[in-house]
Amino acid sequence: MSATVKIGPVTLDAPLVTAPMAGFTDRIFRRLAREAGAALTYTEMISAQGLIYQSKATWALLDLKDEPGPVAVQLFGREPEILARATKMAVAAGAALVDLNMGCPTPKIVKNGEGAALMRDLPLAADIVAAMVEAAGPVPVTVKMRKGWDEDSVNVVEVARAVVEAGAKAVAVHGRTRSQFYSGRADWDCIRRVKEAVPVPVIGNGDVRTPADALAMLEQTGCDAVMVGRAAVGNPWLLSAIRAALEGKELPPPPDLAERMAMAIRHLNMMVEAKGEKTAVKEMRKVLACYIKGLPGAARLRQHLFTLDTAGEVIGALEAYTRDYYQKKVRAPHAH
Ligand SMILES: Cc1cc2nc3c(=O)[nH]c(=O)nc-3n(C[C@H](O)[C@H](O)[C@H](O)COP(=O)(O)O)c2cc1C
Repeated sequence: MSATVKIGPVTLDAPLVTAPMAGFTDRIFRRLAREAGAALTYTEMISAQGLIYQSKATWALLDLKDEPGPVAVQLFGREPEILARATKMAVAAGAALVDLNMGCPTPKIVKNGEGAALMRDLPLAADIVAAMVEAAGPVPVTVKMRKGWDEDSVNVVEVARAVVEAGAKAVAVHGRTRSQFYSGRADWDCIRRVKEAVPVPVIGNGDVRTPADALAMLEQTGCDAVMVGRAAVGNPWLLSAIRAALEGKELPPPPDLAERMAMAIRHLNMMVEAKGEKTAVKEMRKVLACYIKGLPGAARLRQHLFTLDTAGEVIGALEAYTRDYYQKKVRAPHAH
């Protein structure tokens, strides 16, 4: 049943994308996600202002060389002019799509009128999108939004209509309000309402954790593609399993421990290569915590990994855990 999805002139080879996640969806994450079956990946959110002011750290986020598949560059900001200039930079860097962040709930972002705060200023949101569309030329502009600011101001349908009117070629909808941050259950029904209201592809997002969730979201909302966020961190096998389900194929068996650890080590090595050992080891701590989630003794192993400073030590610890696991020496989390 897997279909292609067309966003303007861009064709996705399956209705499966990974979410933008600051601190996680760097180019190594994107490479592994693509390998596992994601048809489109997103960068972390990138400050339009930071690009204009030539911030080195911001520019590093826009490095799209050697990407194995289409990448959406996600920008945040609030000034149409600045976003238009940043859009041109994203296009020059090789963005397949340029996405506007209208969902970030973080106080330091929304207090500047950026991220989810844009959902409270529709005329400005429409101006921004129109400016980005003009700057992007043939590259489609898309918008990622939430259900609304809070339960008293659920306006996602209105927002979606306004940005599509302004030229957006697809919208991604996270079914939570800004006030919810990441808690509670995502409301998929608002995704369905958006799908019924706009003529462009709608990407559904929120709480897809299994292949069954992905199929259910497509069916219940009529959305054109599913976007997977947290559940894909440290778990590329989830993407392969969803992809198989979308294609009506048999699900691949879940990875055994050796496979999980081999992937975690490969991910670490790729990070060391891309970012240098010090940064890689630090950034990988939270990712490794996801790779080992649910394993016996995971909490203890995680605490230990967080004390280590070199890639060699981390790999040593993962290998030692693997040996102990197969020799049945790993104790259950509360065994001591
Ligand atoms: C650590 C973290 C960072 C995130 N960063 C971004 C971001 O940069 N841009 C964005 O639009 N959403 C961001 N999100 C939201 C996700 O894209 C997604 O909408 C949300 O996690 C719900 O999807 P999920 O239930 O599949 O995780 C972030 C979420 C998390 C947990």
